[in-house]
Order: sequence, then C-alpha cells, then structure tokens
Amino acid sequence: VGFSLRWLLLLQSTGSRHAGFSSCGVWAQYLWLVGSRAQSFSNFTGSKDDRGTCQCSVILPDTTFPVERVERLEIIAQTISQKFEKEFSKVKEYVQLISVYEKKLSNLTVRIEIMEKDTISYTELDFELIKVEVKEMEKLIKQLKVGFVGSSVIVDQLEVEIRNMTLLVEKLETLDKNNVLAIRRQIVALKNKLKECEDSKVGNLPALPPPPAPGLGGEGMPFYLLVPLGSCAHGGVVNISRPIVVQLNWRGFSYVYGAWGRDYSPQHPGKGLYWVAPLETDGRLLRYYRIYNTLDDLLLYTNARENWIKYGQGGGVVVYKNNMYVNWYNTRNIAKVNLTTATVALTKTLPDAAYDNRFSYANVGWQDIDLAVDENGLWVTYATEASTGNMVISKLNDTTLEVLNTWHTKQYKPSVTNTFMVCGVLYATRTLNTRTEEIFYYYDTSTGKEGKLNIVMQKVKEKLQSINYHPFEQKLFVYNDGYLLNYDLVFQQIPQ
Ligand SMILES: *[C@@H]1O[C@H](CO)[C@@H](O)[C@H](O)[C@H]1NC(C)=O
Ligand SMILES: *[C@@H]1O[C@H](CO)[C@@H](O)[C@H](O)[C@H]1NC(C)=O
Ligand SMILES: *[C@@H]1O[C@H](CO)[C@@H](O)[C@H](O)[C@H]1NC(C)=O
Ligand SMILES: *[C@@H]1O[C@H](CO)[C@@H](O)[C@H](O)[C@H]1NC(C)=O
Ligand SMILES: *[C@@H]1O[C@H](CO)[C@@H](O)[C@H](O)[C@H]1NC(C)=O
Ligand SMILES: *[C@@H]1O[C@H](CO)[C@@H](O)[C@H](O)[C@H]1NC(C)=O
Repeated sequence: VGFSLRWLLLLQSTGSRHAGFSSCGVWAQYLWLVGSRAQSFSNFTGSKDDRGTCQCSVILPDTTFPVERVERLEIIAQTISQKFEKEFSKVKEYVQLISVYEKKLSNLTVRIEIMEKDTISYTELDFELIKVEVKEMEKLIKQLKVGFVGSSVIVDQLEVEIRNMTLLVEKLETLDKNNVLAIRRQIVALKNKLKECEDSKVGNLPALPPPPAPGLGGEGMPFYLLVPLGSCAHGGVVNISRPIVVQLNWRGFSYVYGAWGRDYSPQHPGKGLYWVAPLETDGRLLRYYRIYNTLDDLLLYTNARENWIKYGQGGGVVVYKNNMYVNWYNTRNIAKVNLTTATVALTKTLPDAAYDNRFSYANVGWQDIDLAVDENGLWVTYATEASTGNMVISKLNDTTLEVLNTWHTKQYKPSVTNTFMVCGVLYATRTLNTRTEEIFYYYDTSTGKEGKLNIVMQKVKEKLQSINYHPFEQKLFVYNDGYLLNYDLVFQQIPQ
C-alpha cells in the first residue's frame, strides 16, 4: 500500500490439525511499520479444507488503515517532488549565471590588479568604466537575489565581493598620485559655481555678435572657463576635453545604438531634463526612452519616466523646449513629441531629404536625418539626391517644423561619422582609429565658409552613435556604443 507504508500480517494458527475438525482459528495481528506499533488484534474463525489447511479471510477495517490519508500523502509527495525538480533546475540555471558573473569578476579583478601595479597610466576613464561595470553587476546580483527568494551563500558572497571591489576602486582613486582626479573635480565644482553666477545674471547679457569662423585668426588663448555659458561670444570650438563616462544606458550592454542629451530651452537654460533613448538592437527603431528631472536621478536610475513612441528611426533625435524631435520610421518626416503628454504633436515632411539609409553616417545606420540644437534653435542635417549625398543644413521653425533656411555644404555625408551644431556652425567628425575620433570639418551658416579642423576627440568604445550639444552647459552628450559620455568644449577667445 502506497510507496512508503507497509503493513505486515502475522498469522498464528491456533486450530488443531486433527482429522475431523472442520473449523480452525487464526489470531491475526496486523501492524504498520510506519509507527512500528501494533494497531489491532483480532481472533478469527477459519475453516479447514480437504487437505487440512486452515483458511480464513481477514478483512482489514477501513477505519483502521487510513487509505485516504495515504493517497493524499502520495499526491503531496508527488507535488513536492515536482516543485523540487523545478527549483533544482532554477538552481542549476543560477549556478550557470553565477559562473558567468564570477568570470566577469575575476576579469575585473585582473584589470584592477594591473591598475594597482601601474601607478602612472591609469586614468579616470578606466575608473569610470570599471565603476560602471561593477554597478551593472551589482544590479544583476540584486535581481538574482530576488529570483532566489530566500538567501543563498554564493550570492551573498558575490555581493560581498562586489562591495569589496567598489571599495577598492574608491581606494585606488584616492591613491591617484598626480591628483588629476581631484583637480578635475575641483574644476567641475568651479565651473558649476560659475554657472550659478551666470545663471543669476543671464538676463543682463548684451546682444551677442554672430560667431566668426572657428579655427581662424588663431592668436587668442583658449579660455573655456571664461566664455559665458550659453553665449556665442567666442571664436568657435578649438579643443575638447577627455570624455567623462556618465553611465551605461538604462537598457544595458546590448543596446549599443541610441542617443542621449539634455533638454535646452532659452527661457530656462539650466533647468532642462535629461533623456536617454537607446534604439532597439536592430539599430533602427526608437520605441522606448526615459526622462529624468536631474542628473542624480539619471545616475541612480531612479525616478525615471519611461515613455514609448511608434516609431522613431535612428539616433538623430534631440529634445528642445520639452519637445522631442525625431525622424519618423520609414519616412522623410520629422515628428515632434510633447514630452509632458508623451504624444506626437506634429509630423512634417522634410522636403527632398534622403531617408532609410540612403545617406546615413559612416558606420552609423538610419541617421539620414540628424536633428541638432544650439544657441539659435533647431537644426537638421541631411542629404538629398540633388546634393549628391553632400550634407545639407536646414534651420527649422520648432513650432511648425517648417524649413526657414537651407545651406549646402561640400562634404559628403556618408563619409562623416557624426555632426553637431554650435552657434550656427556645423561640426563633423570622422574616425581616426578605435580609440580616437577627429572633429575635422566645419561649416559656418552665418558666413557660408567651410573648412578643415583637426581636433582630436578620445572615445571609450569604437563608434560614436550620436552627438548632441547643450548650449548652456557647453558640453557634448555622446552615445558611445551604449555608454553615455560628456565632453567639455573649449572655445577660442575673442580678443577684447
Ligand atoms: C485470541 O485467542 C487466543 C487463544 O484462544 C487468546 O489467548 C487471546 O486472548 C484471544 N485474543 C483476543 C483479542 O480475543
Ligand atoms: C576582460 O574582458 C575584456 C572584454 O570583455 C577583454 O578584452 C579582456 O581581454 C579581458 N581581460 C582578461 C584579463 O581576461
Ligand atoms: C572583503 O573585504 C574584507 C575587508 O577588507 C575582507 O575581510 C574580506 O575577506 C573580503 N571578502 C571577499 C569576499 O573578498
Ligand atoms: C586639447 O585638450 C587635450 C586634453 O585636454 C590636451 O591634451 C591638448 O593639449 C589640447 N590641445 C590643444 C591644441 O590645446
Ligand atoms: C505639451 O502638452 C501639454 C498638455 O497639452 C501643454 O500644456 C504643453 O504646453 C505642451 N508642451 C509643449 C512644449 O508644447
Ligand atoms: C514659427 O512659426 C510660428 C507659428 O507660425 C510663428 O509664430 C513664429 O514666428 C515662427 N518663428 C520663426 C522664427 O519664423
């Protein structure tokens, strides 16, 4: 009976085997080994057959042997074993995941050890990259813990190791002998203070002269701390800082295509929200984007508003005055998305623009129509069949998306890796190698002049998927194969 209960019947004959006796007696004791305790005794009357064998039938009373309970037990046992199988396969899966994380961790450990031994060549970039990766793993481990429900020794241990690693990276940073980081931080703090100053007197700025062609008249010293933020009183871009790795995009390592930036509005220049728009992994569709009110929220992945649209195309997207502007999927249209309501407020055709990968950028697909924002408003860089693929710049009315003015450059768009606008000047980049890019070309819409530049721009990963300029911060927001980078621009001073 059942798989775990057995019962035993002990039979003891009490009848005599003398011929002539027709009946015999049996004393039966049945007991369950489960309790190893006798449950009942009975005497039965049997009968003898022709050969003198005593036969008797014993009917086990149902009330004594709990058949139903045993059946229930059987069912429970089966369910439990199924559950166990499920949990066991989960554990196996986690063990695999954990070994992947362990490999990652040991890789990181090796890298940190190399950095520890080498006191000269490590840079903030390396720190930031490692920090981003450690943070990412911390997140994964947390997810793993949730999956585990209870707690697991291995996961706890991993968590401790990751926490240790975070501490180590922080300690290493403090060991930075040249104080490069400390100085850079001080500079950032100073710049922020300056920004506050500028913020408070932004209403008093005089009317600004149009920007002269960049890179010309080269006697002025770079003075990037002295150019008023949000102003065009400078001679154009002459240099660029090293990149600051802000973080990995919110969708993770595999979302290498996309864009990010900060809303700019001339009325509230320092108050813009931050947006991150990773494309789907096909490098084409823009569906989900997140908005953060502050940089801290972005850094901590907290208080995000996540919206979706159906669909944007490519990473040429910008945000201006709380509206997102984006090339609409499979068209030469530009859509204007109100970020408050997350709805498309307007779509408008960009006349003659080539689209759908006809003239995108070098190494970056689906960015035939690249929007840009600078001190003067909303711009779009594209190419047409008539321009034979050379870049065309149009100034747009951001209310109506109507083209206000158009300039034709002599630079072939597909040989450029990306572009951005500053003070009405278009800047274009090209690839030097996997770690460096060059701002090599400009077109000044106020004079119609174009020319060569050679400003070297370092990068963390191979491809700059998009570049956006923020006029108030005078920073570039670059989406570098999934990583969000910031660069400070250095402008040429106009001699007073
Ligand atoms: C059964 O019969 C035997 C022998 O006659 C006797 O010793 C025993 O007490 C009886 N048991 C019961 C439970 O009646
Ligand atoms: C760590 O991983 C990176 C890429 O994931 C790889 O390039 C590098 O060689 C690895 N380093 C070690 C020491 O395994
Ligand atoms: C973490 O660091 C503490 C203190 O430095 C050390 O005692 C501990 O062994 C470390 N744990 C792991 C898992 O590395
Ligand atoms: C440009 O900036 C980089 C990094 O800050 C610096 O090393 C380089 O000397 C600068 N170049 C010029 C021409 O100022
Ligand atoms: C977005 O829509 C809201 C609600 O309709 C409106 O109040 C707001 O002005 C719009 N924002 C922009 C930037 O057009
Ligand atoms: C943009 O269009 C709006 C609405 O037609 C108009 O009021 C505004 O003056 C235009 N702006 C420019 C710069 O043309």
